[in-house]
Amino acid sequence: MWLKYLVSLWLGLLLVGAAIVPQDEHPRGLDSSNSTLELVHVLFRHGPRTPVNTFPKDPHINETYEPYGWGQLTNAAKVELYKIGKQLRKRYKNFLLPYYQPDLLHAQATQSSRTIMSLQMVLAGLFPPENTPLEWNMLLNWQPIPIYMEPEATDKILRQKVPCPRYDEAVWEVMHTPEVLALHEKNAELLRELTDLTGLNVTYAHDVTNVFISLQTQLAYGLKLPEWTKDYFPDKMRPLAIKAYTYDAYTPELCKIKGGYYLEDLYKHIQAKIDGELEPAGRKLFISCAHDWTISNVLSALNVWGDRMPRFSALIAIELHRRTDSGDYFVEIYFQNDPNKPPELLQVPGCDKQCPIEQLLKLSQDVLPDAPYEQLCIAKGTSDGTHITYHK
Ligand SMILES: *[C@@H]1O[C@H](CO)[C@@H](O)[C@H](O)[C@H]1NC(C)=O
Ligand SMILES: *[C@@H]1O[C@H](CO)[C@@H](O)[C@H](O)[C@H]1NC(C)=O
Ligand SMILES: *[C@@H]1O[C@H](CO)[C@@H](O)[C@H](O)[C@H]1NC(C)=O
Repeated sequence: MWLKYLVSLWLGLLLVGAAIVPQDEHPRGLDSSNSTLELVHVLFRHGPRTPVNTFPKDPHINETYEPYGWGQLTNAAKVELYKIGKQLRKRYKNFLLPYYQPDLLHAQATQSSRTIMSLQMVLAGLFPPENTPLEWNMLLNWQPIPIYMEPEATDKILRQKVPCPRYDEAVWEVMHTPEVLALHEKNAELLRELTDLTGLNVTYAHDVTNVFISLQTQLAYGLKLPEWTKDYFPDKMRPLAIKAYTYDAYTPELCKIKGGYYLEDLYKHIQAKIDGELEPAGRKLFISCAHDWTISNVLSALNVWGDRMPRFSALIAIELHRRTDSGDYFVEIYFQNDPNKPPELLQVPGCDKQCPIEQLLKLSQDVLPDAPYEQLCIAKGTSDGTHITYHK
């Protein structure tokens, strides 16, 4: 009983304490004086975690990653995600007034502890109940907000791991195009050395990404990396590690099978909003938490990924605005890879930074799903069956 009280007191003080720390500016990118914000979609990657993968020569192969366990959110992640929630609050405070109501938002995570927990932390920062009718505990400035989840077996929008033989095959095809083969040939020595040092078969950019993230997460947890990593991690490995994200959505077909489903859902909400048919009518925010590949696949489908290394907690905000004079709608797409830096306003090729919705839809035509998933996923028999991926 006493312990419980102390824990809640401590948590309460922590939340109150964090609230008085100066907040980061999360500025508007463009002039918004002649338009109103109508609908926001936020999609972010879970925060920093302990490793998911290891390799045969990993000196930390038997590590337990106490107190979290493998693949779980760390305390540093909770601090970071809570801060991101406060940044979002600052940016959207007037838009989301006056306080949390069930119709206001839909929050969804993938079937994964770290995304569900990450979304909880961001919502804690976004909707503190203090000084609202929802305040219920003077010592704990937090309120429960429901998070929805679709099982991995059917979640094409966020988790994006519903089995798809054609997708695996099409990635194999990409990895065997002349330009991708040439890049791997150029890096043959590095791949051979990494194979030797890790005991893993490091053949593709994806294998480099796999080792890269393992080392990155071990370091963040506080482990000492083996001596050999000094010459390889992060600088020498990064250029190839980045490429896996690009290759995963290298063609319109790959974009369609992955990021295309998020875009389809996004445009459905936007169209309903424009038509005055969004249900519930008070819905203003869709906030989702997923994975690095979700982030890169969605931005690739929008043709704005570029070669990047997605950070943990990387965040996309897609804002629908309406011009006051003409009543026309446009979209602004923001990307914040690092919560310590301001978000970047992205420009879809062929469109302004304030992209008219009709134009955006036109530019997305060849990455929107145009057949049932099962049909898009029928293999053509062009690969040797290798499943090339960096994540479990
Ligand atoms: C906003 O509208 C006013 C009045 O029509 C106009 O003078 C002003 O230039 C507009 N600003 C922008 C940024 O379009
Ligand atoms: C991990 O544990 C196994 C089984 O106890 C042991 O054989 C192995 O040497 C350990 N590896 C390392 C790197 O500690
Ligand atoms: C490594 O993987 C590649 C591609 O899957 C395969 O062709 C090769 O035989 C493997 N090498 C070893 C040593 O297992």
